[in-house]
Amino acid sequence: MDKLLIQGGHRLSGEIAIAGAKNAALPILCAGLLTDEAVELHNVPRLQDVATMLKLLEQMGLKVKQDGETVILNGDAIDKLEAPYQLVKTMRASILVLGPLLARFGEARVSLPGGCAIGSRPVDQHIKGLQAMGAEITIEAGYIHARAKKLKGTRIVTDMITVTGTENLLMAATLAEGETILENAAREPEVTDLANLLVAMGAKIEGIGTDRLVIQGVDKLHGATHSVIPDRIETATFLCAVATVGGDVTLRNARVDTLDVALDKLREAGAVITTGEDWIRVQMASRPKAVSFRTTEYPGFPTDMQAQFMAMNCVAEGSSRVVETIFENRFMHVQEMNRLGAAITIEGHTAIIDGVDKLVGAPVMATDLRASASLVIAALAAEGETCIDRIYHLDRGYDRMEVKLSAVGAHIQRVKS
Ligand code: EPU
Repeated sequence: MDKLLIQGGHRLSGEIAIAGAKNAALPILCAGLLTDEAVELHNVPRLQDVATMLKLLEQMGLKVKQDGETVILNGDAIDKLEAPYQLVKTMRASILVLGPLLARFGEARVSLPGGCAIGSRPVDQHIKGLQAMGAEITIEAGYIHARAKKLKGTRIVTDMITVTGTENLLMAATLAEGETILENAAREPEVTDLANLLVAMGAKIEGIGTDRLVIQGVDKLHGATHSVIPDRIETATFLCAVATVGGDVTLRNARVDTLDVALDKLREAGAVITTGEDWIRVQMASRPKAVSFRTTEYPGFPTDMQAQFMAMNCVAEGSSRVVETIFENRFMHVQEMNRLGAAITIEGHTAIIDGVDKLVGAPVMATDLRASASLVIAALAAEGETCIDRIYHLDRGYDRMEVKLSAVGAHIQRVKS
């Protein structure tokens, strides 16, 4: 298992190029299952989760050609309508094959994902929506077995806002008979990016970017070319790193309009933020000021940025309260940050952070993707050396983070084992 060795206390300056969004790329790759024509994708990030998804899709018979950040998919010979436990257990986003397979082939067998480090994360809303569209669904030996000769459009109101649930039902609805209305739909930019690709493939979708998606089913979708949107979470992670340790960094290939709340919070913390069409510059000359927030669905404060902002709050001037409302167990980084000298206490879904003058390096362990990113930020701010173990979590969602950070002056090194 690789580790990261970080010597803290070095300001960051220079430029970083942002990769394509993981959480847009994953559903978009699954959309390749919806057609027998070629789907050409650009700006696909080079991540472990993308590699896992491509492996899963290839097992189903989807042809994959990959050249750097370009991926060409061809679904003219899909012959296995199954997502096995071995792959689903390593990546919950595998559930995203369920809607497309069922809609195009009338059947799918997908392993139930089970729990994960950040919470129980059921998929009942995916199932409920597909059942409402006429699918017959049984749970057999840990697998969701779904069948439907032809899905039928209907009105679906999900109990809560779910990102991959919306994406699964949206993909299924594109090939259903008649009109599907998805109420309480997720409005995340990644859902919008998927919807834009589906429209380019011939889908009829109205209300893109809103919480009410109206889809007129079509008989067939065709091939298309699409570029994945820049990763707003990767962008915010680097912005947060600079706000925590100080410096002057410009992020290239960023989508400013997807980051409103994060940018406001960074300004509140004292960072100077300037933006252009596809870049964001962050300058931080002083110690950050503590900022309180509550995670919510887009366009609110993203749960995927909670841990990174908490790292900033650890060394900030003053105290802050962070409330996590999306996942029940997303404070796994707190114990590790406290090992670095942070002063965080948890009361239910709220973390109370008293900013300390300094953190001190120590061995810590990454527990999930965003927790890992937050430990990198805390380590960059800490005095001395921090060793972060189990960074395979980081590699799932960040494209060579240590290379990008080294290029702007961080003292960070991957140790292979
Ligand atoms: N939920 C249910 N039933 C369902 C679906 C969701 O109870 O059928 C609950 C979940 O347990 C959770 C809440 O609803 O409490 C929201 O979950 P959601 O379904 O929106 O999460 P997700 O689709 O599984 C995606 C991202 C996550 C991100 C969340 C929230 C992908 C591949 N994953 O997960 O990303 O945190 O939305 O924005 O898009 C990450 O990148 O690190 C990551 C965890």
